[in-house]
Amino acid sequence: MQTFKVQENASNFPSNFPEKSYNPHEWQGGYQSLKQEFDYWIDDIEGQIPPELNGTLFRNGPGLLDINGQPIHHPFDGDGMISRITFLNGRAHFRNRFVRTAGYLAEQKAGKILYRGVFGTQKPGGWLANAFDFNLKNIANTNVIYWGDKLLALWEAAEPHRLDPHTLETLGKEYFDNILSEGEAFGAHPRFDPSCQLDNGAPCLVNFSIKPGLSTTITIFELDTTGKIVRKHAHSVPGFAFIHDFAITPNYCIFFQNPVTFNPISFVLGMSGAGECIKFQHHQPTRIIIIPRQPKEKKVQILETQSGFVFHHANAFEQDNEIIIDSICYESLPEVEPESDFRKVDFDALKPGQLWRFNLNLDHKTVRQKLIESRCCEFPSLHLQKVGRSHRYLYLGAAHAPSGNAPLQAFLKIDLESGERQLWSAAPQGFASEPVFVPRTNSQHEDDGWVLALVYDAAHHRSDVVILDARDFNQGPIARLHLKHHIPYGLHGNFTFKVFLTTK
Ligand SMILES: [Fe+2]
Repeated sequence: MQTFKVQENASNFPSNFPEKSYNPHEWQGGYQSLKQEFDYWIDDIEGQIPPELNGTLFRNGPGLLDINGQPIHHPFDGDGMISRITFLNGRAHFRNRFVRTAGYLAEQKAGKILYRGVFGTQKPGGWLANAFDFNLKNIANTNVIYWGDKLLALWEAAEPHRLDPHTLETLGKEYFDNILSEGEAFGAHPRFDPSCQLDNGAPCLVNFSIKPGLSTTITIFELDTTGKIVRKHAHSVPGFAFIHDFAITPNYCIFFQNPVTFNPISFVLGMSGAGECIKFQHHQPTRIIIIPRQPKEKKVQILETQSGFVFHHANAFEQDNEIIIDSICYESLPEVEPESDFRKVDFDALKPGQLWRFNLNLDHKTVRQKLIESRCCEFPSLHLQKVGRSHRYLYLGAAHAPSGNAPLQAFLKIDLESGERQLWSAAPQGFASEPVFVPRTNSQHEDDGWVLALVYDAAHHRSDVVILDARDFNQGPIARLHLKHHIPYGLHGNFTFKVFLTTK
C-alpha cells in the first residue's frame, strides 16, 4: 500500500478560517451574468508574469445566467462567452465576447427567453408554452479550441461556431467542408493526439458525437493539422447513452456508457428539460465501449464494471494487453430537479467526484478499478504530449477539504509515480476552475511549465487569472492577474502558443 504525501499551502488562510471552507452566498456570486464585453491590458497584477510565457488562453462558459432578468434554470443552458487572455513578453491582455449564435441574437433582440434549454430552462408561459417545442438553442458554451487556424466554440449537441481569434467575432457555423451536416453534433471534448499512427506520426485532433436513442450511434472524427476531417466513422451500440467526454489511446477511443434511462414524456409535455428526464440506475453496470480508431476495424468491444457516473476522463494509455484510464467518478448522476435552484445546491447532500483508475483487460474482458484520489475533484488536465500515453502528472480543480463534497476552491497536482500531492487553495473566498497546463518551451520534464486558471474572488466580486509554477504548487501563484470584473464559472478552454491580440 502506497503512502501518499500531501503538502498543502496553508499560509494564505486567515487565523479565523471558517469551519466550512466557503460561504455559500459568496460562492453564488460567481453565478451572476456578465453582460459587458471588455478589451484591456491587465495592469493590476500581484507577482510577475513569466516573460517566456507567450501565447493565448481561450476559455468558454455560460456568460449569461439570465435573459434580460428572466433567470435560466441551469448554468449549462447559459449562452457561451469566450474569454481570451493573451500573454506577451510579461504582459497580459483580456478580451471577452459572446458567441453570436442565432439564439443569442434573437433573445437579446427580443429581451426575453425564446428557447427551451436542455437542462430545464423554459420559455415563459408554463408547460403549455413549452409542450412539443423541440427547437433547442445551439448555445456554443462548453469548450473553445484553436485548431487548424480555426477558433471553434463547441457545444456537444450541434455543430461548432467559428470565431476570428484576433477579434472573437463570430464568423458562423463550421461544417468542415460539408463533412458535417446541418445540425449534426460535434462533441465538446476533442482530444489532441500528439503523434497519430494513422498520419505517420503527425499530430491530430480526435472528437466524437453521440446520437442517442434506443440504440446509440457514436461517430468518431479525426482532424489533421490543417483542420480538415480526414476520418469519420460511425458505430452503433445498444441502449441509450449520455456521454459527455471520452479518452483516446493510439489505437482506441474509450467511452463510459453510464447507467441511465431516458423517459422524455415530461420534456415532450413541456414540464421539464430533456436533461431532467435522465435518471441514474444504481443497480445497472457502467458499460465501457472501446472503438478502434482505424476506420477499417469495425470490432467494438464492450466491458462492464460497477455502477457510477463519469463526466470527465483525465487520460488513457495502452500497456501490454490493457487499456488504463483515469476518470473522475461519482457514485451517481447529480440529477437536475425541475423545481430546484442551482444556486441553492446543498453540496453536503451530494457525493463528491473522485479520481479512479480503471484497468481494462482486453484479453479477459475484465475491469479492475482503484481509487486514486478521494478528495473531491474535477476538470483533470495534463501535458498535451502525454495524451494517450502513460502520464506521470495530473492537475485538477479540487475542494479545499480533503473529504466530503464542496465547491472547487483549490488546485491539486498528483504525481502518480511518487504518490506526492501538491495543493494550493484559494479558500475561503476563492473558487477554482479547470486548470490548463502550459509547458515551458524546450522543457525536459513533464511538469516543467505553468498551470493557468481562472479563480473567482468573492471578496472583490472579480476573477483572477492565476499562474502557478507546475513544479511547485506549494509556493502559491507566481502571479495573480486581477481582472476588472468577474467571469461566471466556466467550463473548458485551451491554450495556444500563438499570440492573438485585438488589432481593431
Ligand atoms: Fe466537460
